[in-house]
Amino acid sequence: MASSSLSVVLLLCLAGAVSAQLSLTYYDKSCPSALTKIQAGVAAAVSSDRRMAASLLRLHFHDCFVQGCDASVLLNDTGADGVANERNAFGNVGSLLGFDVIDQIKNDVESACKKPYSSNNPVISCADILAVAARDSVVALGGPTWEVKLGRKDSTNASMALANRDLPPPFLDVAGLNASFVGKGFSFTDMVALSGAHTIGKAQCQSFRSRLYNEGNINATFATKLMANCPQSGSGGDTNLAPLDDDTATPPNPDMFDNSYFLNLRAEKGLLHSDQVLFNATVASGATEDIVNNFASNQAAFFNAFASAMVKMANLSPLTGTQGMVRRVCSSRTN
Ligand code: HEM
Repeated sequence: MASSSLSVVLLLCLAGAVSAQLSLTYYDKSCPSALTKIQAGVAAAVSSDRRMAASLLRLHFHDCFVQGCDASVLLNDTGADGVANERNAFGNVGSLLGFDVIDQIKNDVESACKKPYSSNNPVISCADILAVAARDSVVALGGPTWEVKLGRKDSTNASMALANRDLPPPFLDVAGLNASFVGKGFSFTDMVALSGAHTIGKAQCQSFRSRLYNEGNINATFATKLMANCPQSGSGGDTNLAPLDDDTATPPNPDMFDNSYFLNLRAEKGLLHSDQVLFNATVASGATEDIVNNFASNQAAFFNAFASAMVKMANLSPLTGTQGMVRRVCSSRTN
């Protein structure tokens, strides 16, 4: 008797351990074309707007940093608590893009899955779509690739409070950035490599105005050019956009995922305060400066470090097995 209940306990533990793991083959039977459909959806979105690659990468980051990679960032129904919507958090509101593209991909994938798709049996989680779309976006712009393990479930909740706490704002110094990333299990190198995501995409004037008008460690020509579209006073230019990675780099590198971000930091052409501090600021740490120098002179080193940090990011506290749900519509927890 004692031994049979022991076996049950062992079996349950084993099942728990297995279900707690993500796998590369998770959709091989239930939706064999899932990965190619996601890739096609990303390619279509990026071919009509190259910035979308950046937006999809950021969406995955903002998902994973808030209660893990569970698609909580996509929820748009406030529900009974009224505060669940992460889309309205400081780092997201008026800034995060790509929701429509994820919805489109979700539809495409579900329609292509082996099972006849009905509203009652969604197959692929929105969290998995975000993780794969982020990888495919980087690849679409010439960046490195990595393997994405699958089987994440979607959350049944979201937290604006956690989003406000855990998404790093652009005015942070190295110590603040480090606290934010170390808290999630990332190394110093991971943090610098992940910041290299700012080799693509755009930021609004309100995200870098303070740096533009108050900081000394900014290239004068670069600053003058930015000021033309980002006035110091008044809020008229708040949402005006500038590329996170200076387009006038030599050689020009518009919208390519490469190591030019790090070359720009060395030239004091980091757009955000949190970018430039990685190279030089009053609180600059030699450690981040060394990593920036390494990535600036060795793109392969950056690509390797970025890929391995993205794998870590995609594995932040996933819901697996019977946890969470597979949402039918990514923005809603009502199936
Ligand atoms: C190190 C801490 C980070 C800070 C403080 C930060 C902050 C920001 C800010 C303020 C913007 C511009 C938002 C706007 O003005 O609308 C931005 C854009 C972006 N961030 Fe970060 N970020 C960080 C790390 C990351 C990481 C780890 C990734 C991905 C791995 C990432 C990917 C992006 C991308 C791709 C964009 C451009 C999005 C677009 O064009 O739609 N960032 N970030």
